Formats: sequence, C-alpha cells, structure tokens
Amino acid sequence: MSSPRAEIWERYAAKYTPRRAVNAAGTTTWLNWTQYPDHGPDEAVLGDLRGKRVLELGSGAGANLAHLATLGAVCTGIDIAPSRADLARRTWGYLGGLEFFTADALDFLADTSTTFDVVYSIFGAVWFTDPEALFPLVRKKMSDGGVFAFSQTPAAPQEDRAGQVIWQRHLPVHQWTEQLFAAGFSEVVAETIDAPEPGKLGTVLVHARAA
Ligand SMILES: C[S@@+](CC[C@H](N)C(=O)[O-])C[C@H]1O[C@@H](n2cnc3c(N)ncnc32)[C@H](O)[C@@H]1O
Repeated sequence: MSSPRAEIWERYAAKYTPRRAVNAAGTTTWLNWTQYPDHGPDEAVLGDLRGKRVLELGSGAGANLAHLATLGAVCTGIDIAPSRADLARRTWGYLGGLEFFTADALDFLADTSTTFDVVYSIFGAVWFTDPEALFPLVRKKMSDGGVFAFSQTPAAPQEDRAGQVIWQRHLPVHQWTEQLFAAGFSEVVAETIDAPEPGKLGTVLVHARAA
C-alpha cells in the first residue's frame, strides 16, 4: 500500500530527467557522488567491489548502481517511489548482477536477511531518514569491515518542519560523525567537495567502516 511519503516521491520521480547516455570521459556507466555532472570523486571510496554485496538506499533510476554492477558487485537498489524500480530494471536489467525493489529504507533493512559488504546513498534515503533509527539498522545488516558511504549538501539551517511529511537532515559533519560512531561504525571520514564553480553549494561525502 502506498504511503504519503511514497506518493510525494512518486511525484518527484515524474519530473525526472534521464542522465546523459555518455559522460565527458566517454563512458556509458559511472558513479557520481555530487549534484554536478563530471565532478567529484568516483567509486574508489567504496573499495574493491568485485564479488561484494552492495545496497543502495534511494537508488532512483539506478544509474549509479548499474556502474557498480559493471565492476563485478552483486547489487541491490531500493527506492520508496514505485516507478523507480520499474525504470531501473528496464534500463539496466540487461547488465545482470543487479536487482531493484520498491521499499522504504527502514522497512527494507528491518526485513532483509541479506548481509551487505557495502551500503551507500547519494542524495538518497540517508538524507531523508532519522540517522538514529537508520544507522544502527544499516550496521546490523553489514558485514564486519564493510563500507557505508553517503553524500548530500553541506549543513544548512533546518527549515520549519511543521506539517512536512519529508525533510532533509541538514546535519553538520560532527553530528553525522557522532551518529555513525554511536551506531558501531569506525574510521569515519567526512569530506567537503567544493562545487565546480565559486558561489555554488558543495557536497559532503561521508564514509565509515562497519567495525
Ligand atoms: C534526490 S533522489 C536521488 C536518487 C539517486 N540516488 C540519484 O543520485 O540519482 C532521492 C531518492 O531517494 C528516494 N528515497 C527518499 N526517501 C527514501 C526512503 N525512506 N527509502 C527509500 N528511498 C527513498 C526517492 O524516491 C528518490 O528516488
């Protein structure tokens, strides 16, 4: 059954513009942590992905996860908006090694019996979910030594949430870090990636080890 949150995200999905078929480097799949094309670090922060079980929380149209499948990862993408899994399957299913489901991040993590080596989220479910609820669940479903990573915009004043069904967690880096340590992660690194042009918003990329 659809929830008010799923309906909001479905309306967001309806406005989606497909990513370019080929990037500036001439490749047809790639992972992009930032909100700008051809900008920022690649997937290296996730470590060697061959044979690793990877979960993306809020996988959207699936383009980032598709790239990890080409690198030999066994990939699962979940997204709360139902049309996203359909589109991702139609677009990237031919690659093999990846599956997409419709689910809320908290529900999926509570229910799954799979243990993941890598969990990540790009402007995705991590940004829109209470970390106190989410991070311990992520940790519980990760193998020891695995990598958890996520990106979003830098901290900003929290907007008035009265009546809002969804909102972004605009946490400063030290709060992301504290929440990760509290949930059983170590080696926490939070880096700010400057925007490609002065005056524009940068990106915060946080990564930690399940240990
Ligand atoms: C800003 S989009 C980013 C999509 C994708 N990660 C990308 O970089 O193109 C946020 C995505 O997270 C999904 N999302 C938001 N909250 C979620 C939740 N609680 N559980 C699962 N997916 C969620 C939305 O439906 C949407 O597809």
